[in-house]
This record gives sequence, C-alpha cells and structure tokens, in this order.
Amino acid sequence: MDTTTQRRFARATRPGGPEVIEVAVEDIASPGPGEAVVKIEAAGLNHADSLIRSGDYVVSTSFPFPVGVEAAGTVVATGPDGAVPVGTRVCGTGWMGSCADFVTVPVERLVRIPDGLGFEEAASVAHAGAAAGALTRVWPLAGRRAAVWGAAGSVGRLLVPWLTERGAEVVGIASGDRVNVARELGAAQVVERGSGDVAAAVRAATGGHGVDVVFDPVAASTFRASLSMLAPRGCLINYGQLTGPVPGADFGELFKAGGVFVTKFNAGAYVDGFDDVVGLIEEALALAVKHPAVVSPVAGRFPLDEVCEGYRALEAGSPGKILILPGRGT
Ligand SMILES: NC(=O)c1ccc[n+]([C@@H]2O[C@H](COP(=O)([O-])OP(=O)(O)OC[C@H]3O[C@@H](n4cnc5c(N)ncnc54)[C@H](OP(=O)(O)O)[C@@H]3O)[C@@H](O)[C@H]2O)c1
Repeated sequence: MDTTTQRRFARATRPGGPEVIEVAVEDIASPGPGEAVVKIEAAGLNHADSLIRSGDYVVSTSFPFPVGVEAAGTVVATGPDGAVPVGTRVCGTGWMGSCADFVTVPVERLVRIPDGLGFEEAASVAHAGAAAGALTRVWPLAGRRAAVWGAAGSVGRLLVPWLTERGAEVVGIASGDRVNVARELGAAQVVERGSGDVAAAVRAATGGHGVDVVFDPVAASTFRASLSMLAPRGCLINYGQLTGPVPGADFGELFKAGGVFVTKFNAGAYVDGFDDVVGLIEEALALAVKHPAVVSPVAGRFPLDEVCEGYRALEAGSPGKILILPGRGT
C-alpha cells in the first residue's frame, strides 16, 4: 500500500449544525478480506448527511460518527483477496466517513469510474444515481404523467431522463433558467416554480388532467401543492425534506385529492443489495459520459479543513454540488 498509515477524517461530535464537525486523525488499519483503502480525490456532500447529523431524523446514529457517504478516488490497498487492483479509479455511495483523505470501503461498494469521467463528476453522480434509479421503481411509469420537483437538482437531473426513457411524460419543476436544463434532459413540459401557483401550472401543462405521480424532495412547503397536482388515484413519492418534514398526514385530504397514494421513499426497500446499487450507479455514470448535463454543476469546492463551510453552503441551498477535495490545501 501507499506508505500512508494515518488518515484525516471529518466527524460530527454531537447532534447539531455544521459547527459540530471537527477534523481528526486516526491510524488506518490494514484492509481485511473484502476491503479496500481508497485515497479520496473528491467527496460529495448530501442533504441526508445534514439530516442524520441533526440527531432528529428517521435515520439515526450514535455520536461521534465519521461524516460523508459519497466519494471518488483511487484504490491504494486491498485485503488479502485483492479483488480490485491498486490504482483503479472508483466511486460510490454507502462509503461511511468518506469526508476524509483515505477511507476503507467494502469492495462490493466500489464502482469503477468509466473513461471520460473525472473524480468530481463521479463524486457528484454516485449517490444521486442510486437514489434516482431506485425511485423509478416505485410507481408504474409507462404511459403515465410524472411531475418532478427539483428537476435541475442532482437527483432530478437523472430522474428526468430515466422517467422519460421508461415511458413517462415528465413535467419538470425548477427555478429560473434551470427549467431549460429540465427541458434539455427530456421534460415534455416545464414549470418555473417562482411564477405563481405551481400545482395549477402543472395541471394546465397536462390539459387539466393532473399527473399520475409526483416526485417531491421538498416536503413541508410543497406537500399540499403536490397533492393538488395529482390525477385521481395518483401517487405522491416523497424522497427528501428540504424544507422540513410534513407535519402529519390527514387521510381526509387524501380522499379529497382523489383517493391518492402517498409514500415516503426508502431506498433500501427498492434495491436488492449492493450489487444492485452498483448497477444503478454504473448506469448513471454511463449516462453522464454520454450526456454531461445530467451531472449537477459544482457550486463549491472546499478543502477537508473547511468541511463545516462546505456543509453551510449545502444547507444554504447552493444551486449545484458541494465537494470536499481533501488534496486541496486551505
Ligand atoms: N432517499 C434517498 O435515498 C435520497 C438520496 C439522495 C437525495 N435524497 C433527497 O433528495 C433531495 C434532493 O437531493 P439533491 O442532491 O438532488 O439536492 P440538490 O442538488 O440540492 O437539488 C435540490 C433541488 O430542489 C429544489 N428546491 C430547493 N428548495 C426548494 C423549495 N423550497 N421548493 C421547491 N424546490 C426546491 C432546487 O431546485 P430549483 O431551485 O431549481 O427549483 C434544487 O435543485 C434532498 O431532499 C435529499 O435529501 C434522497
């Protein structure tokens, strides 16, 4: 292996905001069977990291815990079985503690980065690719109409072309000029969310019919609009809570909306182990090679020592991907 025997990593010391994160040093244990040590070139920050760190989310952990789940880098050492050659460029999600200069990862979670993609693109697409791929499995799509909030966000950029490919007619919702990204990625109709009543605009875009399925990562502030853009017996798929959780669900509202369905997406329920996750990420990387617009532009690059600033930028709603580049000096 690389002569490095220690790693620098970010950890959350207690529940709270970005201020509870510190950078610590620890020894790197020799990788065991089925493990690899990866030198991280770029780590992607995700909203779920912030929710888990808050200590008040449906997914919980004990503190302190190493932060970050998504990254890209180069294999520098492997366990005795040596399943992946040293020097292989890899990315993935489920890499716990990936905000670090080195991380030890189960080999089953490594995805080879194809030629034509850099570390930054791979670290921007891995987690979103797994989520978007699994989301397309929740509701029947062929011949249906689908609305996508955040259509120009990291997940949305993959959802729009994949829903289209699977036979859905997509209404992409985004702000400002970002509607053009949704259109370029295959949305048949777009709605600029700052322009007024979004639900009415989505209904108008579907000839008054409404959509059969709506993908909503926003939750608190969009829940009612999502319900009212649905066609009878449609489905609201909530997969994030950018503005906070929905405060209680009223069955009477579901009745009035047309006997609609509502679900809180759990990715684990729609994938069959890490082999399946790897397949979804490979599909997303292949699409990114062919169609670079599916990769969210980078809105901020931070060295490891400024990881708190990186999370502040993410939580302030940066219009693009926030990356930690451990090799970059402060
Ligand atoms: N469950 C899972 O497995 C999983 C995996 C990955 C991500 N997620 C969740 O998916 C969501 C999106 O993640 P991401 O990485 O794609 O985030 P992102 O790149 O930051 O994109 C989020 C998008 O949401 C839109 N948005 C932000 N605030 C909004 C508001 N108040 N009302 C309407 N739209 C708003 C923004 O688009 P415009 O400003 O253009 O409208 C933005 O592009 C997050 O909630 C995340 O936690 C879940």
